[in-house]
Amino acid sequence: MLVATLAYFILALGLPVDARHDVNFRLPYCKEHLKLLSQEDIYNIRDIHQQWVMHRRIEVDMRNLLHNMQQFAVSPPDDPAEAAAWKTDWSSEFVSERLNASATASLQLEDALRNLTSALRAANQIPASTTVHNLVQCSSGRLNARLFPDQPVVSLLLQYFRRPAALTNMVQMLENCSRQMPVEMIVNVDSPEEGQAWADLSWSTRGRLVPVFSANIHEIRAYNRMAALARGKVLVVLQDDDSFEPADCSWLHPLMRQFESMPLLGMVGLKSYRRGVVAEGNLERWPDTFFMFSDPGTGNFFTFPLQVDYAPVALRRTAMLSVGGVDEGMSDLGECGIMSDWELSIRMWTAGWHVGHMPLVKRGRVDNEEGTTHSPKNVRRCWGRQLHQGGIYHMSRWGNGWNAGAGQFLEWLENHVRILNLKTLSRNYTECPFRKGCDDLEGNPPLKSELQHIFSSLTNPIINE
Ligand SMILES: *[C@@H]1O[C@H](CO)[C@@H](O)[C@H](O)[C@H]1NC(C)=O
Ligand SMILES: *[C@@H]1O[C@H](CO)[C@@H](O)[C@H](O)[C@H]1NC(C)=O
Ligand SMILES: *[C@@H]1O[C@H](CO)[C@@H](O)[C@H](O)[C@H]1NC(C)=O
Ligand SMILES: *[C@@H]1O[C@H](CO)[C@@H](O)[C@H](O)[C@H]1NC(C)=O
Repeated sequence: MLVATLAYFILALGLPVDARHDVNFRLPYCKEHLKLLSQEDIYNIRDIHQQWVMHRRIEVDMRNLLHNMQQFAVSPPDDPAEAAAWKTDWSSEFVSERLNASATASLQLEDALRNLTSALRAANQIPASTTVHNLVQCSSGRLNARLFPDQPVVSLLLQYFRRPAALTNMVQMLENCSRQMPVEMIVNVDSPEEGQAWADLSWSTRGRLVPVFSANIHEIRAYNRMAALARGKVLVVLQDDDSFEPADCSWLHPLMRQFESMPLLGMVGLKSYRRGVVAEGNLERWPDTFFMFSDPGTGNFFTFPLQVDYAPVALRRTAMLSVGGVDEGMSDLGECGIMSDWELSIRMWTAGWHVGHMPLVKRGRVDNEEGTTHSPKNVRRCWGRQLHQGGIYHMSRWGNGWNAGAGQFLEWLENHVRILNLKTLSRNYTECPFRKGCDDLEGNPPLKSELQHIFSSLTNPIINE
């Protein structure tokens, strides 16, 4: 019981996902060597070696390449296989620069490893018999994929269905964003009969656009499939009817700064949000109330809502994967995913991640067509039939049970989020936006009597016990 409670608190604190596993999964051989080191030092040793060995690899290869380029300029090889092995479009200046850069980097990394190990030895954190070899091998069981070369920082995820008029705009957006930072765009193409057009786009964008063909799986399954494929640290989920201001994608910088300065931030709504359960008493969602809080750490306008909506919405990839992604049980294959965004938000909070909202973009429309879920043909199917199921589903996990309303858990969570806003952010509101007020920063104050119905739905037990 105590162990289970402890495990719950560790989860609730939202320690980085990596940290939870290492100690338990360590080889017996390595337990001795690593036992006195902090996780941070173990990661540092791994990171330094990972970069060192890559730069040594480049250094060796560029030295051989340069040598052969000079050699072959004088006397080309007779053996076509030898010629093919060293064929390159690079100039010898470029190869020398690359050689020099990697040689310089590996010397620095050796220095850093030397400094780190001597500091750790001086602090008696490395057993006397442990060598740098032991440390490197025992810390390298899980690599740092962020350090691989050519990694995109941001993956734009686009759910697409028969909307060729939106294509030019999306490719331009990919180009604009690529000017700001390394970006890829993953597109779930739910209309694979357009395959040739997408294959052409993959080629013309030099692979920055990655199409995935699906047989009309719709948004919930598409988001999970794209998240599993994406390589960016942050995923930005788009809809095919979106266009944004500022159009140059400069909004990516404050977004990334926010994710970097808040390691627990798992999800950031860029469209709209709710401070709590839908009912009267909170000020939320509408553009004129967007600037009620800012983060003193980054200076960005920022708030912690209870739930945020698709799309656009930004997700930390590790957070998205660690909570299991969007709940595919919420809809049948090919149906839309109304309420799955709110369900994901509550799950993030419950798993120890934080959910934010930032007023970074103004949305526009690329054409006059309504988006897929809002098109007249689908509006009843999505916003009638699916919304009905989604609402019941959401409250059956997070509310008072099957087909019930909100209850204690959401009241507690909404209050927790209220306190987080008030305690950690700078206030810039003219009127307190919370139905539990802005004064009590410790407890869970009762609601005014006319609001008490919000969390007091009859309980429908999940099982009879
Ligand atoms: C790299 O080039 C600079 C400038 O030419 C030179 O001073 C330096 O020694 C070179 N570094 C290595 C590791 O070769
Ligand atoms: C290693 O330590 C030396 C001496 O304190 C210092 O000059 C050098 O900058 C350090 N190198 C790295 C990469 O930290
Ligand atoms: C790309 O950037 C240019 C220049 O900022 C802008 O005029 C254009 O509208 C942008 N395109 C898109 C699709 O955002
Ligand atoms: C408060 O928000 C408004 C925008 O709504 C902004 O113009 C103003 O600078 C903000 N004030 C502070 C103190 O952050």
